[in-house]
Amino acid sequence: MFVAVIAAAFTARAADGDLARGQYLMNGIVACGNCHSPRGPDGRIQAGQELSGGLVIEKPEFRAVASNITPDKETGVGNWTDAQLVTAIREGKRPDGTLIGPPMPIAFYRNMSDNDVRAIVAALRATKPVSHKVDKSKYNIPLPPAYGPPVARVADVPRSTTAAYGKYLADIGHCLECHTPRVKGQLDFTRLGGGGQELPAPGGGIVVSANLTPGNPNGMAHWTNMQAKAAIATGVRPDGRQLVRLMAFDWYKTMRDNDMNALLAYLRTLQPVKN
Ligand code: HEC
Ligand code: HEC
Repeated sequence: MFVAVIAAAFTARAADGDLARGQYLMNGIVACGNCHSPRGPDGRIQAGQELSGGLVIEKPEFRAVASNITPDKETGVGNWTDAQLVTAIREGKRPDGTLIGPPMPIAFYRNMSDNDVRAIVAALRATKPVSHKVDKSKYNIPLPPAYGPPVARVADVPRSTTAAYGKYLADIGHCLECHTPRVKGQLDFTRLGGGGQELPAPGGGIVVSANLTPGNPNGMAHWTNMQAKAAIATGVRPDGRQLVRLMAFDWYKTMRDNDMNALLAYLRTLQPVKN
């Protein structure tokens, strides 16, 4: 009896992710809301509507509409179980078996540790439910049958200021999904971090992602750590230019200094790409 009670308590704790960690990640480097929140004409997120979806991302290949991922039961994901949410985030698969289309960065989220993905699910559950029905996405390209084999177990990467942890953070923050050039829609990993993607700017127009590698003489590889951190966290470059709000500095400003140091340690290992 006593053992059963302890076992039940342990299972409950193992299933519930670490809420504080999840909120830190989701409101920081992971920035689900950069895609999943509706924006006003100034490109800023509409207050009170966080994560309620509706942002349209249009390309020749698709017209993707970001889903409502608040816990609203009718229009959001309030009826999904924790395990279903984990599968959606890391494998891009919904409970009904259909695939979540691009640009949700599933290839990078596959690397998210079991503990962190559960923490993010806990943070999703803790957000305010918002009733907001959004359009369906349209894909003019065939989606693959799956993004890969099921993700079984992903261990934590020890939290430190090393490049290894920095790479983990860059993955779950999908920095290089935006900052790597594409060929025929696919990321060109031989030019990792080389920038040059044309992306729809919030509020209209096109913005080109920056080359973060040493191959860019005016780019962050040649800035001091202080300058690079300021650009990432406030969106202001050393030359004073304000970056376009698609770059998710509104989220990155909450990143802890140790995590910033790890991230920079990793980005400084990128091979030079001319662009
Ligand atoms: C780069 C943009 C982008 C980011 C970042 C992103 N998503 Fe998505 N997500 C999308 C789009 C677009 C869709 C809808 C795709 C479709 O219709 O097939 C989607 C769909 C989903 C769905 C499916 C919901 C449904 O009702 O079908 C879930 C769950 C989800 N995202 C969770 C997350 C979480 C959690 C994060 C952060 C860890 C995240 N997403 C980050 C773009 C993004
Ligand atoms: C949704 C796409 C997107 C994501 C995700 C993203 N960025 Fe950016 N980033 C951009 C775009 C677009 C620009 C260029 C904005 C401009 O020129 O106004 C940019 C600019 C920058 C700059 C300024 C560089 C320069 O030379 O001007 C830095 C540094 C940077 N990003 C680092 C990062 C890091 C680190 C991450 C991950 C934590 C990240 N970005 C995630 C889109 C993104």
